[in-house]
Amino acid sequence: MSLPGLSLALLDAIEEPALVVEAEKVLAANLPALALLGERIVGRDIRFVLRHPDALDIILLGRGGSGEIGSLGGREQPWTILVRPLPDGVQLVRLVDRSATLSAERMRTDFVANASHELRTPLTTMIGYAETLAEDGAIDEAIRVRFGTMIHGEARRMLRIVEDLMSLSRIEADRFVPPVDEVALDQIARIAADNARPLARQWGCAVELSLQAAGPIAGDLTQLLQLADNLVGNAIRYGSVAANASITIATSVEAGRAVLCVTDRGEGIASQHLLRLTERFYRVDAARSRNSGGTGLGLSIVKHIAERHRASLDIRSIVGQGTTVTVAFPLL
Ligand SMILES: Nc1ncnc2c1ncn2[C@@H]1O[C@H](COP(=O)(O)OP(=O)(O)O)[C@@H](O)[C@H]1O
Ligand SMILES: [Mg+2]
Repeated sequence: MSLPGLSLALLDAIEEPALVVEAEKVLAANLPALALLGERIVGRDIRFVLRHPDALDIILLGRGGSGEIGSLGGREQPWTILVRPLPDGVQLVRLVDRSATLSAERMRTDFVANASHELRTPLTTMIGYAETLAEDGAIDEAIRVRFGTMIHGEARRMLRIVEDLMSLSRIEADRFVPPVDEVALDQIARIAADNARPLARQWGCAVELSLQAAGPIAGDLTQLLQLADNLVGNAIRYGSVAANASITIATSVEAGRAVLCVTDRGEGIASQHLLRLTERFYRVDAARSRNSGGTGLGLSIVKHIAERHRASLDIRSIVGQGTTVTVAFPLL
């Protein structure tokens, strides 16, 4: 038997690899199936084509069903096989690639594990200090103050992590809601510079502005400030390595886009880290990030806000010279 034209067209319309099997032989296959399993599989025994015991069991029993298989056609990646009996002993076999689903699942579990770890570290420290304070009645006044300050500091750190996590989930929830405020980036830059004064003073860093009108863009005012605050905060914290450090916040319109640029003259970031900086909790130097009050979530927040605003995010850095982060937004 061969397949009529309409059936072949339907088979070709299936996007994933699909085969029609009759009497244990491949009757027809679409292009993705030929690409995955070989050009000459039509007419061959299904046992030579799939070579996977669980998949073959489902097909040879002829009752339909589904199963998971680890590798096919030499490719180590997880597939789901779906077998559907059709009239006259014919079966439709579809193969669905599960690697995207699995990697999304893995990202979710990694994220939960990382977040729990980040929260547990300050919590363990706090419990240690609190136990000493509670159990040692004759504790020296100076030590009591020091332990109290430590507990306070760790609790503040936990709060920052929780607040950043909440921000991230809010931004993600609004991912498909277009922002509606009419915003000028130079205004955002001015406010971010003002917000950063206390931090800049603490690090002995000057904040320079180089602002040209840059707008209007369709923005979410709160989120844009959060984006700018994070970039400016990073530039000050990681850029103030020498005495007389300074950072520059610049805005302009270039090639029809409103551009915000934050530049520092710090130690820079080695190229192998650049692509991973926007991952949640990724830091080049975890201890340093922690000591400077970081949560490891700032650039991930920046990335999500940029995505919601259809803006591009570009991080350029030269070790020993400094870092420039550029965000370019479509103009209204
Ligand atoms: N301007 C910068 N200069 C050097 N390193 C930076 C800069 N901005 C970010 N980084 C690196 O990227 C990491 C991730 O940044 P971020 O997501 O804001 O987290 P956090 O600042 O809380 O650690 C930082 O820990 C730091 O190692
Ligand atoms: Mg940061």
